[in-house]
Amino acid sequence: MTDRPRVFVTRPLPAGGTDPLASADGPGPPCEIIQRTDDEPLDKDGLIAVLEDGIDGVVAVLTERFDADVFAAGKGRLRVVSNVAVGYDNIDLDAATAAGVVICNTPGIVDDPTADVAFLLILAASRRASEAEAILRRGEWTGFHMEDFLGRDVKGATLGLVGYGGIGRAVARRAQGFDMEVIHHARRPTGDPGYIDDLHELLGRSDVVSLHVPLSPQSRHLIGRAELAAMKRTAVLVNTSRGPVVDEEALAEALEQGVIFAAGIDVYEREPAVHPRLLAAPGAVLLPHIGTATVARRTAMSQMASASARGVLAGEMPEYALNPEAAGSPLSRD
Ligand code: GLV
Repeated sequence: MTDRPRVFVTRPLPAGGTDPLASADGPGPPCEIIQRTDDEPLDKDGLIAVLEDGIDGVVAVLTERFDADVFAAGKGRLRVVSNVAVGYDNIDLDAATAAGVVICNTPGIVDDPTADVAFLLILAASRRASEAEAILRRGEWTGFHMEDFLGRDVKGATLGLVGYGGIGRAVARRAQGFDMEVIHHARRPTGDPGYIDDLHELLGRSDVVSLHVPLSPQSRHLIGRAELAAMKRTAVLVNTSRGPVVDEEALAEALEQGVIFAAGIDVYEREPAVHPRLLAAPGAVLLPHIGTATVARRTAMSQMASASARGVLAGEMPEYALNPEAAGSPLSRD
């Protein structure tokens, strides 16, 4: 009898999300799935306790943090952590490689839903939708007035994308429908039209700035006081990437002082906490990290991560492995 690899799934996933782990069609034998039913983040001690129990693979979401201690608890048995997200700032990739653990993520599939939310925020923040709706819901709307709720035109505006991967490009495609001029900044020249080498130049030229960079030590607080000051006073900032890319306190201050016009935010520095000054800031449209939250995408992301985990456990190297070299590390078993 072939041993069934034991795969721990850290949170409930949409129906069908773990099917690739269980299917009879391979690759390799079907996995034994140990899935938490508690839909709260699992802390480090909890994760260590589960891994010490003998686990070959993990399907994780972005609230679970994997560092060297956690990989050590895998005791050389753990071979893959497959993240149901494109961002993998919750995982120490170097520590994973050193421990012989392959890390996978879900790129591509997240691009369209996240770009939709970025555009939703571009429109909502430019047109002051949250503020207007809140006034209506409080029963304070006194009727149509020519000069109430005046926002900014999106059509024809200049959109500055910071980061130009799959999500940034998907936002650029949507912007074409609004006749926007699209410029972009990335750490390395993209060779594409509209590339601006200097971040501050892009900020100064844009009517809307939308952030699409992964969180890394280099991108932490990429947008702080100085960058907000470089933006137009009429500009809108949108963040659907990771919260710590923006200095939340500086953003709240910029909104309070009219340094920029508005902001549309889906991600926060200390989720689920939101800076109280940001909650109170004028012009802030705030969503609770829903970038990829559609039934179809969250299901597909879960299946993609499950399939990658199964592939690694069957000795294959999935397309979306971030550190395929880990499979050859001295600690890995093959
Ligand atoms: C969601 O935030 C993701 O990184 O896919």
